[in-house]
Amino acid sequence: GFSWKLDDHPKLPKGKTIGLIVLDGWGEADPDQYNCIHVAETPIMDSFKKTAPEKWRLIRAHGKAVGLPTEDDMGNSEVGHNALGAGRIYAQGAKLVDLALASGKIYDGEGFKYIQQCFDKGTLHLIGLLSDGGVHSRLDQLQLLLKGASEHGAKRIRVHMLTDGRDVLDGSSVGFVETLENDLAKLREKGIDAQIASGGGRMYVTMDRYENDWEVVKRGWDAQVLGEAPHKFQNALEAVKKLRTEQPKANDQYLPPFVIVDGSGKAVGPIVDGDAVVTINFRADRMVMLAKALEYQDFVKFDRVRVPKIHYAGMLQYDGELKLPSHYLVSPPEIERTSGEYLVHNGVRTFACSETVKFGHVTFFWNGNRSGCFNSEMEEYVEIPSDVGITFNVQPKMKAIEIAEKARDAILSGKFHQVRVNLPNGDMVGHTGDIEATIVACKAADEAVKMIIDAIEQVGGIFVVTADHGNAEDMVKRDKKGKPQLDKTGNIQILTSHTLQPVPIAIGGPGLAPGVRFRNDVPTGGLANVAATVINLHGFVAPSDYETTLIEVVDH
Ligand code: 3PG
Ligand code: CO
Repeated sequence: GFSWKLDDHPKLPKGKTIGLIVLDGWGEADPDQYNCIHVAETPIMDSFKKTAPEKWRLIRAHGKAVGLPTEDDMGNSEVGHNALGAGRIYAQGAKLVDLALASGKIYDGEGFKYIQQCFDKGTLHLIGLLSDGGVHSRLDQLQLLLKGASEHGAKRIRVHMLTDGRDVLDGSSVGFVETLENDLAKLREKGIDAQIASGGGRMYVTMDRYENDWEVVKRGWDAQVLGEAPHKFQNALEAVKKLRTEQPKANDQYLPPFVIVDGSGKAVGPIVDGDAVVTINFRADRMVMLAKALEYQDFVKFDRVRVPKIHYAGMLQYDGELKLPSHYLVSPPEIERTSGEYLVHNGVRTFACSETVKFGHVTFFWNGNRSGCFNSEMEEYVEIPSDVGITFNVQPKMKAIEIAEKARDAILSGKFHQVRVNLPNGDMVGHTGDIEATIVACKAADEAVKMIIDAIEQVGGIFVVTADHGNAEDMVKRDKKGKPQLDKTGNIQILTSHTLQPVPIAIGGPGLAPGVRFRNDVPTGGLANVAATVINLHGFVAPSDYETTLIEVVDH
C-alpha cells in the first residue's frame, strides 16, 4: 500500500539545514545592456556560476517542462513553483482549458450546467484578463467560450475586461479590444445581445493577490457588479485609447476602472439577481480574492453594497483546500503528494517566507495550490507585508533584506531543516519595465542571497539557489535574430513580461557531502527535477514517480 515514508538515501546524510532560495524572474541570457542581471553587480550569483558544471547548471522553466501547452509559452510563477514543489510535470490550467474547449466537454460539465440555468432570464458575465499572455488567461479561450456559451443558450452576454501589459507588451490592449469587439459584433448579428460592460487595468482593478490590497478588488466590484466607475464611455475601444493617453501613468497594467454606458448614461452591464458569472482566468492567485467576494455570504473585506444572487463559476477551481469557487468549468490539475507533504511525514521541519506579493508562491503554489501548512508543528510560514499602492520600480529593493533576515534567523535558530524563500525583486520590478530600477532590484536580490548563504555557512548547511522563470535578464522585445525591436517611433520596445529563458540552479555550502555534483545525463532537466534533488539533500530517496534528481554522489 501507499506510504509517506521515504527510503533513506544510500549516501547522503539527514538533518542538514538547507537554504532553498527561489529568485523570482531570474533567467540566464546573453549579456547585453538589456540584461539587468548582467548589468547589475551580482557577485554571489556570479561566483556560483564559476562552479559549473558540477555545482551550477541551467534548467528549463518554460513550455512543456512546466506543463504549458507549447514551447512558445513563457514560464510563470504558478507553474514554476508547482513544478518546484511537486517534482512532477502536470498539464496546467492553460492546457486543461484548451482540451475542455476543443472537445466541447466544458459544456457537459457541472459548472457550465450550473451557469446555464441563468441563460433564459439572466445575463452571462465573463470577467477576466484580456490578452494572449497565457499566464492567467488567453484571449482565444475567451473567444471560444463566448461562441460556445451563445450556442448553448446564452442570449445576453457582458464582458468585464481587464487590460494586461504585464504578460504582453504595453499598448497591446487596443488590439485585443478590437478582436473582442469584432467577435461580439458577430454574436450580435446572430441576435445575441453581447457587449463589453466594464474594464480596467489588471494591477489597479480586480487582479490583486494574496490579499495585498482589497481596494483593487473593490474598484473592480464597483464597476463590474454595481456598474459604477469614475470613467464612463459608450465604447470600450475609445475607453482604452482615451484613458491610455489622457490619464497620467495609465498604461495597460494601471488603467483606471471604467464602465460602458448606453445613450442615456446607464451602465450596460451591472451584475444583478439571476445572472450568471464566470471568471475566465485559469490561474488562481489573482482571481481568488474576487471569487471570495462573489461567493462568500459573510464577507467583510470591503463593503459590497449590493450582493446579487448569482450562479458563479470559475474557469477552474482556484483553491482545492477552500473548495473555492464551489462551481467551476474545468477541473484543476490534481497536484498530489508534493515534496512539502512528504517532508513533514519524514521529520523534516520547514520554514517558508516571502513578502505578500510572492508569499503564496512559496506556500500555496509550492504545495500544489493548497492554502496553509500540512502540519503546523513541523512548518512555519512567515509573510512579510509588501508595500501597498506603489509600483515596485519606486522601491526596487522591496523586502529582500527583510526576507533574508527572517531566513537567516530561521537558519541560525536550528529549528528547521529547510528554509525556503522567494526573492521577488527580479520579477516584480522587471514587470514594471523600468530598466534602471530592475538593475537595482537584481543587486538587492544578490545581497539577500549572500545573507542567507552566510547563515548556511555558519550552521554547516547546504544551499540550493534557483529561480522560477526568466524576466529581469531580458527587458527588450527582440526579433527572431535576437536584435532589439523598434516601435514606429524608433524606440526600443520594453519587455515587461517573463521570458522563455532557462534558469540557473546552484548547490553548495559546507554541509554538501563531498562527491555531490550535478549529473551530466539529465540535459533536459527542468524545474520539476528540483524536488527530487532537494529530497536527496535532506537524506532521502525521492518518490519513484518524481522527475529524476539532478545530482549524483561520486566517490571521493
Ligand atoms: C503576475 O501575475 O504578476 C504576472 O502575470 C505573472 O508573474 P508571476 O508568474 O511571476 O507571478
Ligand atoms: Co512575474
